[in-house]
Amino acid sequence: MIAEIAARRSIRKYKQDEVPKDIVRQIIQAAALAPSGKNRQPWRFLVYEKEAKEELLARMEKGIFREMEGKALLPESAYGLPDAKNTLRIMRQAPVVVVVMNPGGRSPFEPLTNDERMKEIVDSLSAGAAIQNMLLEAEHLGFGTLWIANTCFAYPELMEVVKEEGQLLGAVALGYADEAPGARPRKKLEDIMEYRCEASCTDKSEQK
Ligand SMILES: Cc1cc2nc3c(=O)[nH]c(=O)nc-3n(C[C@H](O)[C@H](O)[C@H](O)COP(=O)(O)O)c2cc1C
Repeated sequence: MIAEIAARRSIRKYKQDEVPKDIVRQIIQAAALAPSGKNRQPWRFLVYEKEAKEELLARMEKGIFREMEGKALLPESAYGLPDAKNTLRIMRQAPVVVVVMNPGGRSPFEPLTNDERMKEIVDSLSAGAAIQNMLLEAEHLGFGTLWIANTCFAYPELMEVVKEEGQLLGAVALGYADEAPGARPRKKLEDIMEYRCEASCTDKSEQK
């Protein structure tokens, strides 16, 4: 296994140092090398820093506030709002926030046909592969990251500020880590994998 897979952690504390532009480019180049369904490469990466990032996050705050106090679009997910506020605080601290878009995607608040839903699943998986490449490349280069889906609580507000067609899939916070968290728990391999084949190919360790 490559060392970066084991060493990567979600980083929720960042130093204030800027991230050099060539590092950001290298990380997004890693994303661009990901596999994608039909090689559609259903992604665009919007790099936010400084005032632009502040404006983006002001909109995210507005959306979280609307979910709490106004017309909630995700009422059954309200339990996640305290975590979303914490994510917002982390995004404010991180020097770079990369918004990940699926340019051909539709609003999650619109109905989809079965065909559209299938395509969207494939495109979301493809974008996920690209994001994971970003996290691993950042780890390789000595930077910390946080994959963020809590943008969902401010979907309309964020779409208004990014001014792009498509679907906003999430974001990645990037910067120099100011913490070194230990590994978070993972499910045991026995609980997540199962061979489906003849008895002859059963894992030898299971036969003991
Ligand atoms: C699709 C996705 C969305 C996530 N969204 C958030 C988020 O909005 N806020 C946050 O703090 N962490 C978020 N995370 C990070 C997870 O909480 C983290 O990956 C998990 O707890 C395991 O910790 P580790 O990444 O350090 O191994 C997200 C991770 C993934 C893959």
